[in-house]
Amino acid sequence: MSNPTLYRGFDTKKDVPDQSGKVILITGGTSGLGRASVQCLACHKPQRIYFTGRDSSKAKTIIAEIKSTTLDVNISFIEMDHGSLDSVQKAAKTILQAEQQLDTLIACAGIMGVGILLVSSPEALNQILKQDFP
Ligand SMILES: NC(=O)c1ccc[n+]([C@@H]2O[C@H](COP(=O)([O-])OP(=O)(O)OC[C@H]3O[C@@H](n4cnc5c(N)ncnc54)[C@H](OP(=O)(O)O)[C@@H]3O)[C@@H](O)[C@H]2O)c1
Repeated sequence: MSNPTLYRGFDTKKDVPDQSGKVILITGGTSGLGRASVQCLACHKPQRIYFTGRDSSKAKTIIAEIKSTTLDVNISFIEMDHGSLDSVQKAAKTILQAEQQLDTLIACAGIMGVGILLVSSPEALNQILKQDFP
């Protein structure tokens, strides 16, 4: 970000371009940055949004919220646990079978505040790396 003042007052409702025809995948879409990205992009007419996470009950709530305010939005939750390669492969297969294209990937799945864990053990570091970079 060369000039942060340019981004002051950025309005996600009017400053995000139309997403027509775009297929979007957001990992970690059930909370935090990912959830905000899902909510924002759903309002800009994407062809489809996929979002991932482990918690399907949170996902159901998000989808219901979005559908209550945005009509005709194609949004799907795909369960994906970055701690399990099988789970990541299954999720990837689901998307590959359904789509010919992927226009946008927003990778938000991860955990924060890892300082203590990083020094605790090599296994803890390995777990963090698997979640953030499956
Ligand atoms: N927030 C910030 O200001 C900030 C700043 C710099 C960097 N970051 C980084 O951005 C990432 C997201 O931050 P956030 O604040 O949005 O975090 P958050 O609110 O805790 O959200 C994390 C997301 O990642 C998913 N997730 C966690 N572990 C997972 C796993 N093993 N497999 C699959 N999904 C998993 C969670 O979904 P489920 O619980 O459904 O699995 C959730 O949707 C983190 O890596 C963080 O370090 C954040």
